Amino acid sequence: MSETCDYSIDSSIDYSITCDGAAFAYEAQTVVKNLSFSVRKGDYLFIVGENGSGKSTLIKGLLGLLRPVCGVITRVGIAANEIGFLPQQQAAQKDFPASVFEVALSGRLGARGINPFYSRKDKEAAAANLAELGVANLSSRCFRELSGGQQQRVLLARALCASAKMIVLDEPASGLDPLVTADMYRILGKLNRERQMAAIVVSHDIQSAVAFASRILHLTNEQSFFATADEYRQSALGAQFLSSQRSNNG
Ligand SMILES: Nc1ncnc2c1ncn2[C@@H]1O[C@H](COP(=O)(O)OP(=O)(O)OP(=O)(O)O)[C@@H](O)[C@H]1O
Ligand SMILES: [Mg+2]
Repeated sequence: MSETCDYSIDSSIDYSITCDGAAFAYEAQTVVKNLSFSVRKGDYLFIVGENGSGKSTLIKGLLGLLRPVCGVITRVGIAANEIGFLPQQQAAQKDFPASVFEVALSGRLGARGINPFYSRKDKEAAAANLAELGVANLSSRCFRELSGGQQQRVLLARALCASAKMIVLDEPASGLDPLVTADMYRILGKLNRERQMAAIVVSHDIQSAVAFASRILHLTNEQSFFATADEYRQSALGAQFLSSQRSNNG
């Protein structure tokens, strides 16, 4: 089904977002500094780091909502509005009085510009992405009546409707049980491999990061670390965080 929709991408076209020496700040407070990394077509990037290390702030920068105060962000072959986004959840956002289909379809809003009507292609994209995530049977259900795991799949479908190039998920696993979480990361990995779609996941779950990611960006208040999952596992920072999470979980 997805091959016939216009959100499938031309696999010959490359795209990337690169941060070079970027810093972000709110008024006088610098939150992230001296950050250099890139994400490109086919990457599956996990962004990890402690509470307040600036993960959501960096996401705002990638989405073009916050300008770096130092350094540059370069987007090649991808515009800021071509990034699908699943924001860090607030409880109220789970209470949409809309159907599952309407929630998925609303992912097309950014691509429609000033046209107030959804097209047939928009509706096909919503149906195809709900099917891809195994929740097509819930299309006419009220979103707020779903379980947390079902809601997350619908919100992932919504983000996929917004972009076939890159999706960014800010802590998509919060409130989900470990099996549902692993299932969501597995689905993302499948989409990443099959569509060559770049996926960026913000997470506190370092075990999942090394299991699923191709690359890891670890934000700290000092020097951030960007590496492949294998390099991260072997690094002093990665080994330290992996072992501290193991002992917290056990
Ligand atoms: N709109 C804002 N105005 C001022 N300061 C902010 C704003 N948003 C975030 N901050 C501050 O910036 C710092 C980084 O916040 P951010 O939300 O990016 O962290 P995070 O890594 O996403 O944390 P968490 O893991 O808790 O989600 C924090 O000290 C926070 O208080
Ligand atoms: Mg955050």
